[in-house]
Amino acid sequence: MIKKGIILAGGTGSRMSPVTKAINKQLLPLYDKPLFFYPLSVLMLAKIKDILIIVNKGQVQQFKKVLPNGKNLGIKITYLEQEKPRGLPDAFIIGEKFIGKDSIAMILGDNFFFGQSLTKKLIECTKLTNGAKVLLHPVKNPHLYGVATTNKQKKITKIIEKPKKTKSNLAVTGLYFFDNKVIKLSKSLKMSKRNEIEIVDLLNKYKNKNLLRAEIIGRGGAWLDTGSIKDFNNTSNFVATIENRQGFKIGCIEEIAFNNKWINKNHIINATKFYGNCEYTKYLNSIINK
Ligand code: TTP
Repeated sequence: MIKKGIILAGGTGSRMSPVTKAINKQLLPLYDKPLFFYPLSVLMLAKIKDILIIVNKGQVQQFKKVLPNGKNLGIKITYLEQEKPRGLPDAFIIGEKFIGKDSIAMILGDNFFFGQSLTKKLIECTKLTNGAKVLLHPVKNPHLYGVATTNKQKKITKIIEKPKKTKSNLAVTGLYFFDNKVIKLSKSLKMSKRNEIEIVDLLNKYKNKNLLRAEIIGRGGAWLDTGSIKDFNNTSNFVATIENRQGFKIGCIEEIAFNNKWINKNHIINATKFYGNCEYTKYLNSIINK
């Protein structure tokens, strides 16, 4: 079982400038909570309790203001800094010590997932013992994404970055599961033309050994973008619509910890004191008063 996870929450957020000039994108409010609560909740739904959050240089204190540690969640949070945005596989080089001899899950700090069978699929992914697994999601405009072709055994046979023409509509999302070889393989990657090490190159190393599998989130689930102002706003509105309709919150990390039985009522009360008088606190109170 994969028990450790990384949230890669640095980046320049250049598409969202000027908003991201002074603030890390992952700290911006996606409706009613900071963006990084959503990927954090995904790892927690996968029952991962040991989590490394990688942020930009000088930003750890800012993140700690909203999530000082994992105590109120019954999990362990470690923060590390990325010197500069060197590419997604840099997460495994920065996280080498954290990963140790284990396998690892990695989610991008700006990725949003939602859907009924999501938890089941996530737990399935954590059973990985060798090779790698990525989550795929059908999209209408595959030319904007890394696109994967799969065979009947759910093995990935091809990945093309932003293809002009493609038969597959399955985009590679920002959620990956790797065996321990990922550290060594990431270190062997060459810089691309845009001066980054590329996740596609890393995935291709697994694919070439026939060790890259896919888990597909179908139309019953959602993987939404938050990279541009428009996408960020649309996803924010999606959360607002669901939450205001159902009365349940998406990405409420304390609720997930409570449901996982990692924390008790006292932890939630501590969290309400920490957040103060706000809608989020009201929701936390409603969980323990059920
Ligand atoms: P990107 O979408 O590639 O970049 P970005 O978020 O900085 O935005 P923009 O393209 O507008 O400049 O990054 C995807 C996610 O990965 C995002 O959450 C930031 C994070 N990231 C890092 O933390 N370090 C990196 O080196 C890179 C490339 C991305």
